[in-house]
Amino acid sequence: MLLLLWKTCILGILASKILCQKVKYDGDQVLQVTPQTSEHVHQFQQLSDAWMLDLWMPHLSEDIHVGANIHVRVPASLVQQMKEKLLQYSIPFQVLIKDVQELLVKPAMKSHSRHSRSLASYNYTKYHPMEEIKQWMTQIEQEYNHLVTRHQLGETYELQPIYYLKLGQPSDKPKKIIWMDCGIHAREWIAPAYCQWFVKEILQNYNNDQNIKEILKNIDFYIVPVLNIDGYIYSWTMDRLWRKSRASYNNGACFGTDLNRNFDAMWCSIGASKNCSALTFCGTEPESEPETKAVVNLVKSRKSDILCFLTIHSYGQLILQPYGYTRNPSKNHMEMLKVAKMAAEAIEAKHGTIYTVGSASHILYSNSGSSRDWAADLGLDFSYTFELRDNGTYGFQLPEDQIQPTCEETMAGMMTIIDYINKKNFKNNAVTITSATLWLNILLLATCSTTYTLWI
Ligand SMILES: *[C@@H]1O[C@H](CO)[C@@H](O)[C@H](O)[C@H]1NC(C)=O
Ligand SMILES: *[C@@H]1O[C@H](CO)[C@@H](O)[C@H](O)[C@H]1NC(C)=O
Ligand SMILES: *[C@@H]1O[C@H](CO)[C@@H](O)[C@H](O)[C@H]1NC(C)=O
Repeated sequence: MLLLLWKTCILGILASKILCQKVKYDGDQVLQVTPQTSEHVHQFQQLSDAWMLDLWMPHLSEDIHVGANIHVRVPASLVQQMKEKLLQYSIPFQVLIKDVQELLVKPAMKSHSRHSRSLASYNYTKYHPMEEIKQWMTQIEQEYNHLVTRHQLGETYELQPIYYLKLGQPSDKPKKIIWMDCGIHAREWIAPAYCQWFVKEILQNYNNDQNIKEILKNIDFYIVPVLNIDGYIYSWTMDRLWRKSRASYNNGACFGTDLNRNFDAMWCSIGASKNCSALTFCGTEPESEPETKAVVNLVKSRKSDILCFLTIHSYGQLILQPYGYTRNPSKNHMEMLKVAKMAAEAIEAKHGTIYTVGSASHILYSNSGSSRDWAADLGLDFSYTFELRDNGTYGFQLPEDQIQPTCEETMAGMMTIIDYINKKNFKNNAVTITSATLWLNILLLATCSTTYTLWI
């Protein structure tokens, strides 16, 4: 990691763009702005474009609409001017985050011990740097070797191996698969935390939970705890709010592709940018990035076995289904919507958190090149994006004390989807078991009554 940091610095100095120091956000604020008229929309778009602001929601100024909340990070130097402009134009706004840096310091930069720790003491309600997650994956594989194997999916731009965990009961026959990736966007730290939580929950409950046993007999989970490893590391070491990968363009003039705009799903047609400076840079062509290619290769090679494709993000509290690139429904739209609604109900039942469900282009904004849309176009029946907590109060800097409730409710929602898919695909198994149980009961009953008669 040190070597990597050093390499990044040298590259940065060579490009004389980046100094080897952490990016600071002292005094930056996140504002929630709600344009009331199309003139407001236009005025805000002009400000946002002129000042090249970091839009947190939506990501592109063209996706700003009347009545929809905008979350935008305004650099300290522009906060006063921005507020004056908004007042002058009478555009309603409120401060969501008073000082971005203040929120960043706490979880991110606390010292973390470097020496190895046991799996038993792994703290799932903390954010972990990549080194610790890597070690955790090795330990999980050792500890649960009857259910877990670790495999390499591919390599990142900076040549970090990308691993996934395969969870399931071993079988000679090819099994069905549920795919789940976390951390495609670097700053969305709650996503990798959730993938780890999911693995822990499944493995710890396996012995005592008949339903989980049944599911793992039928289905393997392929879990990628951190897909965009380069970006994730960068968000720990250099810039907490980094989103993209770390590929270099134009001789280091700009860095990173938005990997969730790089898939071959109406690539870069809408809600994405061909400018490598943009947050939503779609790459140089579809699947131009090694991280994208790694997902594509594996999913394509097993596409007839994959029952469901899940990709975990933050924030916004949404379950999104295809499509983002068109307002047309996907072929399995109605069933997916029904299942997503059931999941949202389970989420709300847990801690009262409200989720919105629907196709991305209808409830969020249009975007092309997402892995969710790509998976649907590949022919998979179920493909969802989860946008976890929160709704903007902390945004990407969700405090650690919310990791547990967030993971608990997400788990409840996701198990609803998994149960549905398991029942749908393995109905015959379930029926066989039920009738076997029934026969056993009848047999027992017969034996009991015989005994009873005898004793009378
Ligand atoms: C786990 O981390 C959280 C957040 O930093 C902390 O509050 C908690 O005390 C830790 N738990 C243990 C058992 O160390
Ligand atoms: C790309 O975006 C940057 C920053 O917003 C801007 O300065 C530059 O002119 C853009 N380049 C092109 C080719 O549009
Ligand atoms: C987010 O949700 C919380 C709790 O439901 C609420 O108090 C808060 O006002 C919401 N914030 C935004 C920005 O919608």
